Amino acid sequence: MKLADRYSNAQPSGMVKIFQAIEKMDGVLNLSIGEPDFDTEHDIIDAASNAAKEGFTHYPPLQGFLDVRTAVCDYWKRHHNLDCVPEEVLMTVGGIQTPNLALRALLNPGDEVVLVEPCFSPYFVQVKDSGGVPVSLKTTEENGFAPTLADLEKVITPRTRVLLLNSPCNPTGRVVPRQQLEEIAAVAARHDLFVLSDEIYEALIYKGGHVSFATLPGMKARTLVMGGMSKSHCMTGWRVGYAMGPVELIRVMTMIASSQTYGLNTLAQKGAAYALANHDAKLIERKKIFAERMDYVVKRLNNMKNVTCTSAEGAFYLFPNIEKTGLSSEEFVWKLLEDAHVATIPGSAFGTSGEGYLRIACTQSTEILVQAMDKMEAFLKG
Ligand SMILES: Cc1ncc(COP(=O)(O)O)c(C=O)c1O
Repeated sequence: MKLADRYSNAQPSGMVKIFQAIEKMDGVLNLSIGEPDFDTEHDIIDAASNAAKEGFTHYPPLQGFLDVRTAVCDYWKRHHNLDCVPEEVLMTVGGIQTPNLALRALLNPGDEVVLVEPCFSPYFVQVKDSGGVPVSLKTTEENGFAPTLADLEKVITPRTRVLLLNSPCNPTGRVVPRQQLEEIAAVAARHDLFVLSDEIYEALIYKGGHVSFATLPGMKARTLVMGGMSKSHCMTGWRVGYAMGPVELIRVMTMIASSQTYGLNTLAQKGAAYALANHDAKLIERKKIFAERMDYVVKRLNNMKNVTCTSAEGAFYLFPNIEKTGLSSEEFVWKLLEDAHVATIPGSAFGTSGEGYLRIACTQSTEILVQAMDKMEAFLKG
């Protein structure tokens, strides 16, 4: 068998390498997982199973059932004051499929996409697979890992077509403040950029509220908001994402999706429709738990030798600075895994500006976090 040339030297990403190593080890305290440790609530499961018994076992409408698209609109209006109608919503197979469809729909070969680094690593691959050119906009801890206007202006060229934002951010856990979003919006308008705004962590903000990019003046027509059920409603395995944006873009994305997946699993859509309409109280409950966990871990990290960590702003990630240890982020992570059996992800797995940092996911019980912090502290004392 001969693989395609472009895959003949395919290597796992920095993140996948860690996951593969953990699978072969026993007793790992795993702080590398980007999914909530809570199971999906049983009434959501019941809603999906009841739908199956009522006959919802057939192909779904390609764009998604009207009830779930309406529930998406209601949820975003209620939580983030975003006005959208079901015609502007497409249900996707996980949040991960959304940028893939959007980039295919938007890019001509050679078009440039600005990625704000450090960022969710699949974006790089998706831009290339869509014929585009990823352009890294590096951010720093001093600037809150948010793009400065000067840096943004510097990377924009006549070929720049799309700006991809992600706030709250994986991996930094930082949130871009409203004023900075407004400044970015002005740049997007000036250079006629389309904005893909990955807001999948919208339900997990610990200071202030979430600002949906499409609610900024003039931005709705040039923004696709990307959301999903994985992080907010603990439904990772259901693979439910959605996109909200201009009807013409949604139409083309639906067409592209029809030849990839032929729609999103019928039962998952029914579960999501129920969850979006009925679980607001649970979101608050879980956010409180994540906030407590993150506060605890930040305190512990800041008491460790050669480590500093800023407080959590959003998502469930912390991004401590380990530069003073003298180790690269890869060296640190692998040594921590091998010596202390604590799994984290090297910051460099999210782009070069993540070098010098680790991503710690607070997606484990406090009991496990306590043990992991004890082990990491002992590891650093050497
Ligand atoms: C920033 C970001 N976007 C999108 C996704 C995709 O999530 P899912 O495909 O589970 O909806 C993730 C998952 O980790 C993420 O961190």
